[in-house]
Formats: sequence, C-alpha cells, structure tokens
Amino acid sequence: MTAIGVQIINTLLLIRLLDSTNLNKMVVIHGEPLTFTNYSTSSLNWNSCMSYCYQMLTCIAVHYYDQNPECQIFEIGKIHDLKQLDAYSGKIMAVKMLSNPTQCSSTSDGNSMRGEVSTSSMYQNYSITANLDIWSISASPLYKCPDSFRLFHRVLGMWCIGVSTVYFIFKLGQIQVVVTGPITQQDGSQLCIQDYLGVLSGFDSRDELRYMIDTVVLLVPSNTAYLWYGYWINGFRKETCRFSNQTGSDCSGIKGFTLTDPLLSNREWYLWGYDGQPNGMSDGLGTSNCIANRVNIHDGGGIDDIP
Ligand SMILES: *[C@@H]1O[C@H](CO)[C@@H](O)[C@H](O)[C@H]1NC(C)=O
Ligand SMILES: *[C@@H]1O[C@H](CO)[C@@H](O)[C@H](O)[C@H]1NC(C)=O
Ligand SMILES: *[C@@H]1O[C@H](CO)[C@@H](O)[C@H](O)[C@H]1NC(C)=O
Repeated sequence: MTAIGVQIINTLLLIRLLDSTNLNKMVVIHGEPLTFTNYSTSSLNWNSCMSYCYQMLTCIAVHYYDQNPECQIFEIGKIHDLKQLDAYSGKIMAVKMLSNPTQCSSTSDGNSMRGEVSTSSMYQNYSITANLDIWSISASPLYKCPDSFRLFHRVLGMWCIGVSTVYFIFKLGQIQVVVTGPITQQDGSQLCIQDYLGVLSGFDSRDELRYMIDTVVLLVPSNTAYLWYGYWINGFRKETCRFSNQTGSDCSGIKGFTLTDPLLSNREWYLWGYDGQPNGMSDGLGTSNCIANRVNIHDGGGIDDIP
C-alpha cells in the first residue's frame, strides 16, 4: 500500500475471528480517538471489546486505556480521526476494515483501509487514510431504504425497490373488511410519489426481477380464478407507437415505451411474456399503454402491455 503501511508495521496485530460470513478484521494499533461526535461504553475487557465491535454491524472502532479500563465503542460516522501512539501510552484501538478473504497478511500491506456496513436494505462505507500518525476516517452518505424495501447497488447508483399493495377498507356493520384491489398505473405511480417520493421501478438486473417476482408470488391467493396477477412497473407507451400502422423499429418491444426510472442503465430485464407480448398495438384500440409484471402462485409470467 502506501508509505503509512511501513510506519505501522511494528505495532500491527491482526485478529481474525472464526466467522465465515464476516469479511472484516480488526486491525490493532496503539492509539486514541482524536475527533469524534459520540461513543458508547461498556465494561467489557479488551478482548471482548474487540469481539463486540467485530460482531456489531455499525461499530468501526474501539478504544481501551488500561488506566481507565472501559470499552469505548465508535460507530460509523461518529469518529473522524484517531492518533497513533507508542506502546508506552497504554492506549489501544482496534479498527474494523475489510479483509482479503484469501489472505491473512501480517503486514499493513494486507490492509484494505476501507470498510462497509451493509445489509439488504442499507449501505454505508468508509475509507481510512493515514498521514504521519493521524488516521482519518471518511464515511460515505448512508443509503437506507424504507421498511420492507430492498437496496440494489445499480451501475448508476443506489436504488430501493419495494412492492406496494393497495388495500381497500369497507365497513360492514361493525366489521372492517380489508381487500386488495386493482388500481390504474397512473394511481400506482401517484402512490409511489405520495408515500415514498418515488417512481415506479423498472428492472436493471436479473436480481431485481427475481426479487420482485419472489416477493409478489407470495401475495397471490392460492384459490384465485385469474390466470395472472399484475404489478405495475415503469413504462408508458409513446404516442407514436400505439397502432399497428405506426410500425417501425422505434416502436419495437420496449423501445415503444418511455421509461422514467432515473437509474435504469439497460432494458434487458424487461422480459415480455411468451404469449406474443407486447400485443397492444394490434388491437386497434390504442389503449394498452402501461406495463405490468405478471405472476401466478408459482412464478413470473413475463411483462404485458395492458390499459
Ligand atoms: C450519544 O450516544 C448515546 C448512546 O448511543 C445516545 O444516547 C446519545 O443521544 C448520543 N448523543 C449524541 C449527542 O449524539
Ligand atoms: C463506497 O461506495 C460507493 C458506492 O458504491 C463507491 O463508489 C465507493 O468507491 C466506495 N468507497 C469505498 C472506500 O469503498
Ligand atoms: C392508424 O390507425 C388508427 C387506428 O386504426 C387510426 O385511427 C389512424 O387514423 C391511423 N393513422 C394513419 C396515419 O393511418
């Protein structure tokens, strides 16, 4: 790595705990926190303090001073700089960073000097730069999705996808009956804005398509009389592509639609149903201008252009 690697070589000690899903390691140095906004404390001893941080999702560093033994726990975004000290200081820190799973280097060259806090619905990362004896930690923004949404790391940026089902509530005497029902794409679109300041999503990858199908398959009633249930996705047919006399390559398949999903990098995952979709241009009505993703209780059925 960089020159700072050489500097810390003698005080470096690597901890790899046995947890195959955790790709982090704790890098131990003599040092103390310099600038930070907040930390929490615990009475754990030093080894437990390190393990605690290693296991805790948002912890990125711990500090311990043997003259005042307490475990100080720093979370991502709350510690900015730390200072390396010599061994006589009695002050010790462990900093979490991503390790290379195929290598357990005993020198600083093996250290990534970066880390991330990642779950299926949030992501934040940080990088550490060392200059003389100061380590500066800079964290990215926190990307966090609404409850029950999933975060996708798209080529063009972070994108949250969720499935929204509309419930109608009726009052029958004293009893409230809740049923799900159909809405138009326009109303669906409006709900995305109203509830999440969002837009209807497209599919940017196989993972996104799979996630959507797997989520909605579970919502289809097993006794339904319908062949398919549909969920609106992003796409509205261009006015120049509504009738069969408007053919031309500009209208073929998904090209005939305007897509407003702002972080869509490709159209490969708009997979049309095998029953001749899209077929809305041939009926002479010019009304099948929206796109729904179809599912039954087993699997997806491709996308369909419908009114
Ligand atoms: C500091 O952290 C503690 C414990 O996590 C929390 O209760 C407190 O509100 C935080 N203070 C600030 C200023 O963030
Ligand atoms: C943090 O994540 C962003 C977005 O994925 C990426 O562009 C950046 O390189 C990452 N930085 C580090 C230090 O990992
Ligand atoms: C194309 O077809 C539609 C529906 O059949 C019709 O209303 C329209 O006038 C036609 N346009 C042209 C340019 O022929």
